[in-house]
Amino acid sequence: MRRSTIVLLAVAAFIVGAAAALAVFPAARERVLPDAVRNVGAAAIGGPFTLVDQTGRTVTEKDFHGRVMLVYFGFTNCPDVCPAALQVMDAARERLGAQANRVASVFVTVDPERDTPAVLSDYLTSFPGTIGLTGSVEAVRQAAAAYRVYFKKSKDDGSSASYTVDHTSIIYLMGPDGRFISHFTHASSVDSIAAKLATLL
Ligand code: NI
Repeated sequence: MRRSTIVLLAVAAFIVGAAAALAVFPAARERVLPDAVRNVGAAAIGGPFTLVDQTGRTVTEKDFHGRVMLVYFGFTNCPDVCPAALQVMDAARERLGAQANRVASVFVTVDPERDTPAVLSDYLTSFPGTIGLTGSVEAVRQAAAAYRVYFKKSKDDGSSASYTVDHTSIIYLMGPDGRFISHFTHASSVDSIAAKLATLL
């Protein structure tokens, strides 16, 4: 081949490769959420954490052993997805009536810099059955990693002072032994969650 042909082929290959990378990347990002559950496997979801609840008390995963746990990672400034998740978790738990205290409904912040215990305490007055957990950035990062939760600060509104946090929206259902059983999302029905909880009590 002539040198100019080789250069043209190299340029064409680069363009095709770049286009493919751009096409694949957004799809891969969209898939972060379901893949967290599908690919990692049940055994790998959940694990040790040491955080602080909304009263300032240190809490670890062992404090929930013996109870069924619904756990969701989000942040108090989230406009709609997090409140929707906490709403269905709270309502599903209430459906259980006298058995409700056998289920721990847990909200772990992915924004510990803003979500202090006091901020969580205030926020959770809207979801009174929920335990709020926060901690150091590192402690939260470890807890999120244990649950295969993705989160990232986002400042795409152009303001440097305010930010939002992109995050996985999965409600994990953990058994009394701390093992992963199933998962829901903020869009799951209260009926479906309550029915699953009832089978475990
Ligand atoms: Ni959210």
